[in-house]
Parts: sequence; structure tokens; C-alpha cells
Amino acid sequence: MMAAEPRRDLVVTPAGPDDAAALRRLLLDANEEHRPGFPEVVFANYLDDLMVLVGNEPPAGMVVVRDTTDGRLVGTGTVMTAGALHSFWPAGTVILRAMAVAPSARGAGVGGVVGRACLERARQLGASAVGLHTAPIMADAMRLYAGLGFVRWPSLDVPIDEIFGPAGEPYDDRALAFRLDLTW
Ligand SMILES: CC(C)(COP(=O)(O)OP(=O)(O)OC[C@H]1O[C@@H](n2cnc3c(N)ncnc32)[C@H](O)[C@@H]1OP(=O)(O)O)[C@@H](O)C(=O)NCCC(=O)NCCS
Repeated sequence: MMAAEPRRDLVVTPAGPDDAAALRRLLLDANEEHRPGFPEVVFANYLDDLMVLVGNEPPAGMVVVRDTTDGRLVGTGTVMTAGALHSFWPAGTVILRAMAVAPSARGAGVGGVVGRACLERARQLGASAVGLHTAPIMADAMRLYAGLGFVRWPSLDVPIDEIFGPAGEPYDDRALAFRLDLTW
């Protein structure tokens, strides 16, 4: 199969305070499809965590992808060097978080553009590896991560309940760890 043409109408920049409201909206819209896959409390805590991450001033490692044809913000991702999920990983690892593409912009390579921009940022930070956690129901995300070269790292899987719970109901799904080595 021929590789898809790279999109030329996209521009990637660091996120700024003017992007905060649109970023919060994008993250809520993009993740809405996952609501049925989580206990209510866990999903609410997951969204809250994303809203806090963006806040009014997005973190330094957050990137935005804009469609230059209409200026719309269509994708985002964040490279982080600290935080609760970061503490699971060995020194030298940065983590990839809050990857999202607007539902109307899916399947056209925006996720790949976000992912590669985040990997570039990780390299600039001198990271030796990038780690991430995702959920078993996030099949599109896992395909994207595999395409970027991430491999499963099961020893760092964590019960989702431990991160975003307590669920208040029986729930034993695990957040699945993936890692990409940047040293070669
Ligand atoms: C995961 C997510 C970010 C992927 O975004 P996306 O923009 O659809 O991703 P891409 O378009 O880069 O890749 C998706 C598919 O499009 C294909 N594609 C890539 N470039 C393309 C192009 N120029 N034209 C057509 N298709 C293309 C990819 O090969 C891929 O195909 P596959 O799914 O069969 O492997 C998006 O689904 C999302 O926001 N999900 C909800 C939030 C979420 O789950 N986040 C992850 C949290 S861990």
C-alpha cells in the first residue's frame, strides 16, 4: 500500500495562553467517545486531569496543530518531564500525554503530525526514551503509537483505578504502558 501524502495545510506550534480555551474544548470533544468505556467517576477524573493540565496557561511541552485553511485547532499533545504518571518511568524518560485530534479531523495524519512533533520536542529535551500510558479501549491511539515506533512495556502497566479512581464499582482495567527508545 502507498504511504498517505503528508498534509501541507498544518502548522505545529507550542501552545500559548490564547489556546487554552480551545484546547480544553478539543480535549473534551476528542475524548467524549471514551465515556462509555469507563466507570463514571473514573472518566470524570480523567477529564478533570486533562482540564487541570491545560489550565489557563498550557504547560511548556504542549503543542498545538492548526489547520491553516481556517485557523482551527485540530490536534494537540504534551511532552512532560514531571508529574504523577512521569514518576513510574526510569530517569531520562519523558512522557507523552493528552494526545487528541478533533473528531472531524481524524484519519488524515494529524495524530502522526502531533506525535512526531512531540518526539522532536523530547529529543530537544535530551530524553533517552518516551513513555506513555493508554487504556485498552483506546485502539486508535494504540495504532498511532505503534506506527510511531512505540512498543509495549507491560512491567509498567498500572490499574486505572489507582490513577483515576476509586471507581466506586468493580473495575480492574489496567493503563497500558508503551515506550519508545530515542537512543538509536
Ligand atoms: C488517537 C488519535 C489522536 C489519532 O488521531 P488521528 O489524527 O486520527 O491519527 P492519524 O490520522 O495520524 O492516524 C490514523 C489513521 O490515519 C492514517 N493516515 C495517516 N496519514 C494519513 C493521510 N494523510 N491521509 C489519510 N489517512 C492517513 C494512518 O495511517 C492511520 O491509519 P490506521 O488507523 O489504519 O493505522 C485520535 O483518534 C483521538 O484523538 N482519539 C481520542 C483521544 C485519545 O484516545 N487519545 C489518546 C489518549 S492515550
